[in-house]
Amino acid sequence: MLFTLIQFRRTTSTQTWLRDWARLGAREGLVVQALAQTAGRGRLQRSWHSPYNEGLYLSVLLRPAIPLARASHLTMLVSLAAIEACQIVAGVSPAPKWPNDLLWQGRKLAGVLTELENQQDRLSYAVIGLGLNVNTDFSETPLAETAISLQQITGHSVKLPALRDAYLDALAKRYQRFLAGESPVPAWKARLEPLGRSVRVVQPGQTSVEGVAIDVNAAGALLVQDSTGAIHTIWAGDVTVNS
Ligand code: BTN
Repeated sequence: MLFTLIQFRRTTSTQTWLRDWARLGAREGLVVQALAQTAGRGRLQRSWHSPYNEGLYLSVLLRPAIPLARASHLTMLVSLAAIEACQIVAGVSPAPKWPNDLLWQGRKLAGVLTELENQQDRLSYAVIGLGLNVNTDFSETPLAETAISLQQITGHSVKLPALRDAYLDALAKRYQRFLAGESPVPAWKARLEPLGRSVRVVQPGQTSVEGVAIDVNAAGALLVQDSTGAIHTIWAGDVTVNS
């Protein structure tokens, strides 16, 4: 698939911009990148700090003819493509964390935001945003313990265009294979945090769950087994690993 790239120096949010265009019928493969965002958004109504030229802030529009139940696979494709780009361009190999982060030594390197529109149980489109910390220095900030950038890991600045191109190349190839029937679940699961660990999951609007993260199901939900042996299927939430 060919991507069409629109680049802004600054916009409110690539995600909001592309979602508006998706609603108006924009074609699959439209990609929007901004060098800075004034209203970058994360999951669970959080904001995404997007300083100029310090990160990859980019959203992609996809319209695969798939059941809604497989839409989480698109988030996995994006995570895997971002990992590949970090490996190729910076020699850094982050791990995916359920449901949508990339971690490096326990700190957040990137986050993925997936927004969907459906018609009954079929997907009409997905707008998938990637925010990757590239040249930000978090060391003297309140996020020093929780966030990290490629520059901090490698000790040198990383070129945004090279990273973006490697990401889009990897995504195009993985998406092609996905359309041909390949599931991204095994590759995503192979290094997924926090499989096998004792966790606490806070679910939006629901009670929290404590237990061991034993698996993810075919739709990408996390399976957590509590101390009574009951298995909870977690579709959304924040996971912290109990030490
Ligand atoms: C998260 O970790 O909660 C997801 C963060 C996603 C941030 C990206 S940056 C590009 C795109 N535009 C946005 O406003 N958000 C996503």
